[in-house]
Amino acid sequence: MEFITYEQDGFVGVITINRPKALNALNSQVLEELDATLDAVDLNTTRALILTGAGDKSFVAGADIGEMSTLTKAEGEAFGKKGNDVFRKLETFPLPVIAAVNGFALGGGCEISMSCDIRICSDNAIFGQPEVGLGITPGFGGTQRLARLVGAGMAKQMIYTARNIKADEAYRIGLVNAVYPQEELMDAAKKMAAGIAMQAPIAVRNCKKAINDGLDVDMDQAIVIEEKLFGDCFETEDQRAGMGNFLEKDKEKKLKVVPFQNK
Ligand code: CAA
Repeated sequence: MEFITYEQDGFVGVITINRPKALNALNSQVLEELDATLDAVDLNTTRALILTGAGDKSFVAGADIGEMSTLTKAEGEAFGKKGNDVFRKLETFPLPVIAAVNGFALGGGCEISMSCDIRICSDNAIFGQPEVGLGITPGFGGTQRLARLVGAGMAKQMIYTARNIKADEAYRIGLVNAVYPQEELMDAAKKMAAGIAMQAPIAVRNCKKAINDGLDVDMDQAIVIEEKLFGDCFETEDQRAGMGNFLEKDKEKKLKVVPFQNK
């Protein structure tokens, strides 16, 4: 891999987009390498992922403008699909993904962060969808996910005006969950990931699926999705051990990491 690094730290996998000369902009090769990296994650030994960008200036400064500049209509659509397919894989990935946004998150950078489950950022982070200034629409899910995350009115304002926002405003509108000094960001992401990794892994995966799938349908269907995923947790060793520890009032055991059990 030229542009993606992957490090395993216990139960947590850290994916770093590493193309600092272009502020980690997403060209086709980066997208392909990211896709292959996700395919290679060991789901039996990993419980959470962190996605970040190399360096202290940029998370991802967008899709690669040089590569896009000469595309035809058909090629533009295909490029959009290429990004969308990888981002959807990330969004529906069986494990929770935390975006540690360490600087510019513009265009495709804002969009990839929105495909993650949780976003936290450094105090120098800048978010935005500047595409209309380049004569295009957001093309890797921005028109869809931003509206779902911050509401249609705020999303339309950001997208129509192409105005970038700073970390504090991203926090205020609910685009990020928390803002940290740059040097504390990765530790905070790792701490959050470790907190997730301590929980019963089948239950965490089922929560992700229940929330994601439920948001796509009406409430009557959504609660049925929840019921099935709730039921799916029963008879697992995690459920037996988790509830058993509570009932036995065994605080030591309660704090123990329940080992991953295949269904
Ligand atoms: N694509 C390709 N190269 C990029 C890039 C991008 N999106 N963003 C930055 N770079 C490159 C620059 O061309 C420059 O390369 P050279 O050194 O070879 O000239 C290098 O990264 C450093 O960038 P700057 O010199 O511009 O750095 P700066 O600190 O002056 O500015 C910035 C930083 C404000 C982020 C500026 O680089 C910028 O505006 N980048 C473009 C942001 C953007 O418009 N993103 C949206 C892209 S469209 C998109 O993403 C579509 C979609 O939805 C799929």
